Order: sequence, then structure tokens, then C-alpha cells
Amino acid sequence: MDIRSQFPVLNQQVHGKRLVYLDSAATSLKPLSVTEAERQYEQEYCANIHRGVHALSEKATLAYESVRTQAQQFLNTRSEREIIFTSGTTQGINLVAYSYGRKFLKPGDEIWISSLEHHSNIVPWQVLCQEIGCILKVIPLGHTGDLKFSKKSKLLAIAYASNALGIFNPVQDWIAQAKAHHMAVLIDAAQAAPHIQLDVQKLDCDFLVFSGHKIYGPTGTGVLYGRETLLEQMPPYQTGGDMIEHVNFEKTTYAKLPAKFEAGTPNISGVIGLGAAIEFLFSPFEKGGLRGISDYAKQRLLEIPGIQLFGDVPEKLPIWSFLLGDIHPHDISSIIDQEGVAVRAGHLCTQPLMKLLGVPALVRASLGVYNTREDIDALITALYKVKQVFRC
Ligand code: ALA
Repeated sequence: MDIRSQFPVLNQQVHGKRLVYLDSAATSLKPLSVTEAERQYEQEYCANIHRGVHALSEKATLAYESVRTQAQQFLNTRSEREIIFTSGTTQGINLVAYSYGRKFLKPGDEIWISSLEHHSNIVPWQVLCQEIGCILKVIPLGHTGDLKFSKKSKLLAIAYASNALGIFNPVQDWIAQAKAHHMAVLIDAAQAAPHIQLDVQKLDCDFLVFSGHKIYGPTGTGVLYGRETLLEQMPPYQTGGDMIEHVNFEKTTYAKLPAKFEAGTPNISGVIGLGAAIEFLFSPFEKGGLRGISDYAKQRLLEIPGIQLFGDVPEKLPIWSFLLGDIHPHDISSIIDQEGVAVRAGHLCTQPLMKLLGVPALVRASLGVYNTREDIDALITALYKVKQVFRC
């Protein structure tokens, strides 16, 4: 399969130059199979799900629920009841903070996160701590070995891999330590999901979240895996249609899993597109090539005098974050945009990590399956233009 032909958005010029998309960690581009799956639903069998006793509704319900089976296989959960569709990683974490947090956590309990976390795996816990008097503990950057868990430590919520630097947390080791202290574990797999085979049973985590839009799927989609025994005990996060069993004016009983956590009409076309994205991830294209292109990117970046790479470790995701001399990342991004090269620059939704690194911002080039060595060469040429502009 010619991968690039699956992404028509690449067939364009930006500022008169060939588009070079190096911002896949922010959102990946979507292949034709994903947009076609969404189009088919919207144009050919648009109907609400779970409710209608008519042909289109039954077809839409079948398509939507078959994605649950795909997600169950994608994450190797024990049951489809453990798959909750969400609007993305942020909603998944908020659901757990709201529902699990308020049910199981008490004043003085500790919630542990890592220094690499995205804001979406910091702020919901801070809000919970303010509300119920829990304590947020942060594992120091680069920490290895034993964590200082105690009887008060109740939840470990960590990124599998950093969206800002592409480096991994030692998830398997930390989960084992958390489990030895009977803690619950949430894994934010948003950045890992496009690259790493996820297996919640092997990980032995209680919750795992990812977003559709970072695995070549639609925005506004995502999955929360939750251990069934916990989900059963957790109260609904949102209430309304489709999550009920019986409603009367005195009292409501809730639907069984997973419907209990999917109130209202969901993003039906998006979830159907998410199914196409999961299928795309398993299609037989040469994914190994991405590793080679990422290594090439590192080699070429290091040729540039004044470049400083962050998170340069042997095993990492195809994400390169850097500074070039003392040029502000926003200036770098604006200048190379004029050359058709799209990267992200800024705090990368990780302000606490930037503070720990002692930088206000970084430039981040992040790769997807459609990137080529020519794309990397274009980035390098554009960065030399930046140096020319700043005479450095
Ligand atoms: N979380 C996204 C990023 O890393 C937006 O850029």
C-alpha cells in the first residue's frame, strides 16, 4: 500500500511549498478509510443507535458496537463491558477523577503522577484534591527505583509516554510497585497508542485512556478501559438518555456497563471512524520504516550547529523536541511554516515539565506513518533558513 496516497491532505502546497507535516503528536492525519467510514454512516445509514427498531438504526448500532469489539481486541480487555467510548483522553481521565475519585478516595489519600504529564493528567487530579482533600504527589523527573508509596497512596496516574519528549515512563515497574501497595492505576496512553501494542491485562492497570485523533482516527473520539469490578461500583459521570434502566419521577436506575457511562447520543460517525483507524493501524504497511526515519531525523538535527535535543534516549517515540540557539520556538515555527513545514512550538501542554527542564517552550517535530526522509531534509533546510534569518 502506498501510504501517502491514503492521506490526500498531504497533496497541497502551504505558502507555495510542499506540505511537510511533522505535527502528528498534536493530531495525526486521517487516512481515506477513516473519512470514508464516517461519510458512509452520515450519508448512507445515518440513524440514532440503541433506540430505533428500524433498519438504519439497527445497521448503525451494529457498526458502532462492532467498534467496541475492535477496541476490546486492541487493548486486550477481558470484556467489551470494559470499553467506554469517550470524546478523548481528557474526558476519560475526567470521568475516572469524577467517578472513581469521588467514590473511593478520602481526605489525606495520595494520588501519584509523573513529572512528564500532560495538563490533562494533572488538572483533573488537582481539582479532585482541592475538593476532597487528597494530596497530589509528583514522581521526580528521571526517577528510577523504588517509589515512596505508603498506606496513604491510593492511585497512580501516569503517561505511558511523554507527548512533549517522546520518552517512556517505566510503566511496568511502577505498576508493579503500585499493585504491591494495593493502589489503583490509570495509564494515559494517548501518545503511546499509535506506536505501542497495548495490553491492559499484561500491564495490570485498572484504567487506560487514549484518543482517536492521535491514532489516525477522528477528533472527538476516544476510549476509556476500566476494570469491570471497579466500573460496576462507580457512579455515572454524566446522566441522561441511554444510560438508564428505568426512570420515574421518584427514582432512576442505571443501565448496565458500558451504557452506564455513555449518556446521550454519542459521536456515532466518529466512533465508526475510530474503528476504521484501528483497522488501519493493523494494516500491513511497513511501520518499521518509521523508526529508521526517526533515527535519520535525530542524526540530521544533530548536524545543525547550536541544536539542543531534549529527551534523547535510545528507546523512544518518533518525537524530537529541541531548541536552536536562543531563538524562541515560536519564531522557529513561524519561519519554517513559510517553508511548508508544520511543527508544534510552545509549552506542549506540559508547563510543569518545561519548568523542570528550565525552558519556556520547545519546538517539537513529531512523525507519523506518512513521513519520509525528504520530509526530514525539508525540516533541516528550513532550520538552516532560520539560522540565516537570525545570523547565528
Ligand atoms: N496533546 C497534544 C500535543 O501534544 C495537543 O500537542
